[in-house]
Amino acid sequence: MAAESPAMRRVQVAEHPRLLKLKEMFNSKFGSIPKFYVRAPGRVNIIGEHIDYCGYSVLPMAIEQDVLIAVEPVKTYTLQLANTNPLYPDFSTSANNIQIDKTKPLWHNYFLCGLKGIQEHFGLSNLTGMNCLVDGNIPPSSGLSSSSALVCCAGLVTLTVLGRNLSKVELAEICAKSERYIGTEGGGMDQSISFLAEEGTAKLIEFSPLRTTDVKLPSGAVFVIANSCVEMNKAATSQFNIRVMECRLAAKLLAKYKNLQWDNVLRLDEVQAKLGISLEEMLLVTEDALHPEPYNPEEICRCLGISLEELRTQILSPNTQDVLIFKLYQRAKHVYSEAARVLQFKKICEEAPENMVQLLGELMNQSHMSCRDMYECSCPELDQLVDICRKLGAQGSRLTGAGWGGCAVSIVPADKLPGFLANVHKAYYQRSDGSLAPEKQNLFATKPGGGALVFLEA
Ligand code: GLA
Repeated sequence: MAAESPAMRRVQVAEHPRLLKLKEMFNSKFGSIPKFYVRAPGRVNIIGEHIDYCGYSVLPMAIEQDVLIAVEPVKTYTLQLANTNPLYPDFSTSANNIQIDKTKPLWHNYFLCGLKGIQEHFGLSNLTGMNCLVDGNIPPSSGLSSSSALVCCAGLVTLTVLGRNLSKVELAEICAKSERYIGTEGGGMDQSISFLAEEGTAKLIEFSPLRTTDVKLPSGAVFVIANSCVEMNKAATSQFNIRVMECRLAAKLLAKYKNLQWDNVLRLDEVQAKLGISLEEMLLVTEDALHPEPYNPEEICRCLGISLEELRTQILSPNTQDVLIFKLYQRAKHVYSEAARVLQFKKICEEAPENMVQLLGELMNQSHMSCRDMYECSCPELDQLVDICRKLGAQGSRLTGAGWGGCAVSIVPADKLPGFLANVHKAYYQRSDGSLAPEKQNLFATKPGGGALVFLEA
């Protein structure tokens, strides 16, 4: 499986309304016909939030919504990008001088991340130009990974233009790394599931080395996505990177406390691996080693025996150098407990006890609580939405993705689905002040979709 590359499928474009529309729009934009199309899906993370960048396994599934790009390689060295959504302006640049502006997460920069990742992997400096028309239907800034889907799609577009081959695992690793050009220090979950997803199954994703295991979700339940309609773009603020840095600092302090060599430790899983103890034992070590009161930079420097300058320039990311408060105890507690919940979730899915939907729901509820109270990555609207979902029939409900807005995912017994959708719709979306559009894309049942693909016209 590891060496498998993304599938290439021949299709009759005329039989696929979305492809056909894209082909026509491409023609009116560029005056030519696309050579091929690429799609890469978004994802919903069922459980395992903010732990991929700490080295721990996560459990997402791909959703049906995706980014689709129509492509025509051209003989010039110019990259021309257009989007079917008029909110995203056209962009063009030399294909061999890619500059990614970290200060503003503009849409085309995500495309450039994917392109640059592939270009650098092969060490190329004479990439041919291309015309691309992008069409996405993943709600942006909603925790469903629209940005990674664009990075992955662009990576696969570039690979296809080059006529080269890479496995899905290699592509996922390249795209996870190259998305960091945007400035966020994300983990590898979103890119991995976008490439490695398979229809009909959720995946346990493990890192270092990257690998996946199918997880069969219960047949008696449905996963429902509900958008809080609070937009959160993780690249537009430093919140996301602050959490990554808090985990990094917690890992260093824990390692130091246990007399391990701490200076090359970056992730919380490394401390566990070095100590060779269980996640439950790591929670106890955290309680002994760290205190719940927030740490300031001076205290961290004292603990590690380093200067403020070293902390800023050698440990922190550029956009977290002026942070004054780090909550190390809470973040480490979340990570180790969430990592354990992922493993419990997978075990329950395998053993399929009679009350499995209830047990899975409880784990999802605990995950939300930990995200809200220990990781502080929820927001009042998401908390309210999760409460509504639970009251109206979900066995469990939690925020999904980076948080601070975006979507909740709920596990709902299949027979309760129609009533659940109608009632959540009324309770959250039909507000008396009319401030939320009761649109279908804000509340929908989803099932595990397939991964990234290349389409060629038959
Ligand atoms: C974002 C990142 C992922 C992951 C999630 C939180 O989606 O891109 O790598 O960290 O947030 O679980």
